[in-house]
Amino acid sequence: MTAAGLLPRLATIVGSAHLLTEADQQAPYVVDWMKKYHGRALAVVQPGSTAEVSAVLTCCNEAGVTVVPQGGNTGMAGGATPDDSGRQIILSLGRLDRIREIDPVGNTMTVEAGCILANVQAAAREAGRFFPLSLGAEGSCTIGGNLATNAGGIAVLRYGNARELALGLEVVLADGRIWDGLQALRKDNTGYDLRDLFIGSEGTLGVITAAVIKLYAPPAARATAMVALPDGQAALALFARLVGRAGDRLTAFEFMTRSCLDLVQSHLPGVAVPFAELPPAIVLTELSDADAATGVTDLLETVLGDALAVGEATDAVIAQSGEQAKALWRIREGISEAQVRAGKTIKHDIALPIGRLADFMRDCETAVEVTVPGLRFLVFGHLGDGNLHYNLQRAPQMTEDEFLGLTGRLNTVVHDLVERYRGSISAEHGVGQLRRDELPRYKPAVAMQMMIEIKRLFDSRNILNPGKLLAN
Ligand code: FAD
Ligand code: MLT
Ligand code: ZN
Repeated sequence: MTAAGLLPRLATIVGSAHLLTEADQQAPYVVDWMKKYHGRALAVVQPGSTAEVSAVLTCCNEAGVTVVPQGGNTGMAGGATPDDSGRQIILSLGRLDRIREIDPVGNTMTVEAGCILANVQAAAREAGRFFPLSLGAEGSCTIGGNLATNAGGIAVLRYGNARELALGLEVVLADGRIWDGLQALRKDNTGYDLRDLFIGSEGTLGVITAAVIKLYAPPAARATAMVALPDGQAALALFARLVGRAGDRLTAFEFMTRSCLDLVQSHLPGVAVPFAELPPAIVLTELSDADAATGVTDLLETVLGDALAVGEATDAVIAQSGEQAKALWRIREGISEAQVRAGKTIKHDIALPIGRLADFMRDCETAVEVTVPGLRFLVFGHLGDGNLHYNLQRAPQMTEDEFLGLTGRLNTVVHDLVERYRGSISAEHGVGQLRRDELPRYKPAVAMQMMIEIKRLFDSRNILNPGKLLAN
């Protein structure tokens, strides 16, 4: 199969209506959500089944044409954007959107990779169950992308990342072979953990076409509060207090600084923080329980009362209705959108040992200020699992180009400090092309060698998402 003969062959496999070769048809697929990465594609191919994915990959592998798997295209590391050669195929999984099976007794659901996360959450609800993966992009991101990036989101501290929520996978390998690993088993001790190899591999080892995911008892009771705090240290003290009293009923603990709140209120009309003055820091926290009788609201009131009494918290609002809880979450989830509206930021998606987060925030602000004075710090994220989004905005007197020209230097300042704190330079967004060139600075050489050897074994012709996660 030559590259020239490829397109007619692909049209036969998926149907010409699902082979997009015109620039206007391809537009939504060749630029990422943040408008940071722009590429061009030979074609966008939309297979309608696992068998079609297999046939497409077989042809591309024979022709030596490289493939960029894409789900909802909401990734934040540039992993789903093609290069600018115009010779790559975008393999869009959106048509693989069937929910194959729900087992409410075994608490599992078998879904295809192109299922949108919000639809999977809804299907679980309709079956009287709960699928806890939740992130700001849930209306567009897909289960395949969630697994390929090992997505995190707001419920990791209670339910884990996408990795912990998957029991089995169906994967098509670079040469077209199909691995049916769709076991709905909590135990299967028959050799290497192949499933976990594909989770977080960002489309570089295989194309995920379906998954068996875990379901949970739906939270019958929720209590949501927004808490005003003097600083990050107080946020950690409140976290420790809540973990101590609520245990695994603590299902969300999100942190944000005053600058994030200011950004949201300035760029998202109608979104208002429920405090007269913007505090230096805010936590949005949620307790939930499958048993309505456990009184999570009383518990939250008691704990917040204790925190206010000792000055850890300076104010607190407990949502009195589901609508009010949604309004509080809108503030947190609006930060991503507000950032894009406010202009380019230099983003860092970092993980740190939870107990050291406040020290890190203090040391990092000093280190960045010394390197480039006057930047604006947008620090927010999933403090309950140690993941901060440590994003920087340009100083008012800087041009955007001057600011973005500092990216390399600022990345090194932030990430070298993360390394000193034994953290990770990518907590949940993955490596993609964004962190590819920095990774060898922070990942031990032997780990890089093992990943390169695994890549060679699974994709000997390097057709799956080359240049993502690993340099070519
Ligand atoms: P895509 O962007 O399409 O692809 C992402 C990567 O996965 C690429 O490398 C792609 O090649 C690969 N891929 C996609 N589908 C497959 C497949 N079927 N098989 C193999 N490889 C595949 N992420 C978080 O973790 N936590 C958050 O809180 C969070 N919040 C966000 C908020 C907003 C507003 C936005 C826009 C994004 C946010 N993200 C967050 C990032 C993004 O939503 C996640 O990374 C998500 O998992 C990507 O899913 P997707 O389907 O859009 O994947
Ligand atoms: C979020 O948690 O909102 C995203 O992961 C981070 C971001 O938008 O920068
Ligand atoms: Zn996040």
